[in-house]
Amino acid sequence: MSQSTITKPDRHDDIRDGTGDERSFTDDISLTLRAAVVGTGSISSEHLTFLSGRSRFVDATPGRVAPVAVCDLSPVSARYAAETFDVPNHYTDLERLLEFERPDVVHILTPPSTHVQLASLCLEAGAHVICEKPVAASIDELEALLDVADSCDRKITESHNYCFNPAITDISRLLDDGTLGQLREVEIRIVLPVTDTGGRFGDANLPHPIHSMPAGVIHDFTTHFASLLLHFTGHVRFHRAAAAWSNHSTNPLFRFDDLDALMIGEGPDGPIHGRFRFDAGAGPDTFTVRVYGSRGWAETDLFQPNTRVVIPRAGGSQLSPIANHVANGAELIRNGVANLGRKVMQRTPYEGLHLMLDETYRALATGDTLPVTNDDMRAVARLVDQLLEEKTRL
Ligand SMILES: NC(=O)c1ccc[n+]([C@@H]2O[C@H](COP(=O)([O-])OP(=O)(O)OC[C@H]3O[C@@H](n4cnc5c(N)ncnc54)[C@H](O)[C@@H]3O)[C@@H](O)[C@H]2O)c1
Repeated sequence: MSQSTITKPDRHDDIRDGTGDERSFTDDISLTLRAAVVGTGSISSEHLTFLSGRSRFVDATPGRVAPVAVCDLSPVSARYAAETFDVPNHYTDLERLLEFERPDVVHILTPPSTHVQLASLCLEAGAHVICEKPVAASIDELEALLDVADSCDRKITESHNYCFNPAITDISRLLDDGTLGQLREVEIRIVLPVTDTGGRFGDANLPHPIHSMPAGVIHDFTTHFASLLLHFTGHVRFHRAAAAWSNHSTNPLFRFDDLDALMIGEGPDGPIHGRFRFDAGAGPDTFTVRVYGSRGWAETDLFQPNTRVVIPRAGGSQLSPIANHVANGAELIRNGVANLGRKVMQRTPYEGLHLMLDETYRALATGDTLPVTNDDMRAVARLVDQLLEEKTRL
């Protein structure tokens, strides 16, 4: 075990109960929550940037949360993260961290196959859990974990971060205010060269743990697909679904590297279609979301944010196409400059993650409903299970 300090720090033992005569989250909004991070790999820099108050996307929230420790099986990685983000302590053993630090919240940022076991440990140690996606490999695993959280009177939530990206919030607003009309279809397309042998997923010498998940490497993206679709459709049940899971690369490391899925459900205003495409062979890297309504449609690319909106404009149906071109052209120029600025400033598409964490900590502090609820997690897990069912497969 690598550990810079093993003294047991002072902490607010009383906030763990959260009810009765003792001090609860709702009593003192300025209460500092002690946060720990397990897994100091690539996504941890976003979580730790937020926790250390260095986020460019949300106001620093001194006093609301303090990172107290990080943990990774690799002592070098744990120490590096602790030093980079000024976190006081680092560990290689989560149980030791829980025992000595007694955090109020643990961010679980390890590979998906470890989430359930590590999350259970944290919940049983009295910590709330913010878990990277996918929190569990199936709805059954998720339900069992939610039972653990319930029995420990702790909360658990999952990163549905892209739902919080401003481009997605903007499109939601266009649906809510009627600009796009009634929702008809949501199409989400991710293009990423995951099979590249030089990449983290294609390295045959060090197979990535994601390959053990039911959808293999695509499981890393299923939560994004499902959470975004359900964000717009509001937990519609898709009674018809078909999914073609393929391995076009034929690389034996990969279970699947391509997904083409179609879902049809009954929304409040009629049928709603959902479409997911994951493509490892096309280019360039893309994460597009298109939302079609009865009046018009909007699309964005979460990797290069630019929202294009095609709707009836002043001038009627004759002039609307031209007006749309002008409006979208002006927006494209604005966003082209903004995206260049983002590149120069090395901004990532993880703005939504910071916004989600900010809302999550506010909710933990006030006792409000978390922004990603148990039902949101259930709906995502059910849809992913449905797409993996044998009878759904093309
Ligand atoms: N929300 C998003 O947009 C987003 C983006 C990237 C990754 N993720 C998710 O974040 C999670 C981690 O992904 P990553 O890309 O950072 O992975 P990574 O491989 O870069 O890092 C994982 C780290 O966890 C450590 N680890 C593994 N088992 C451990 C254990 N039992 N105890 C302590 N440390 C352990 C590893 O040593 C490694 O450093 C995954 O669930 C992934 O799907 C989410």
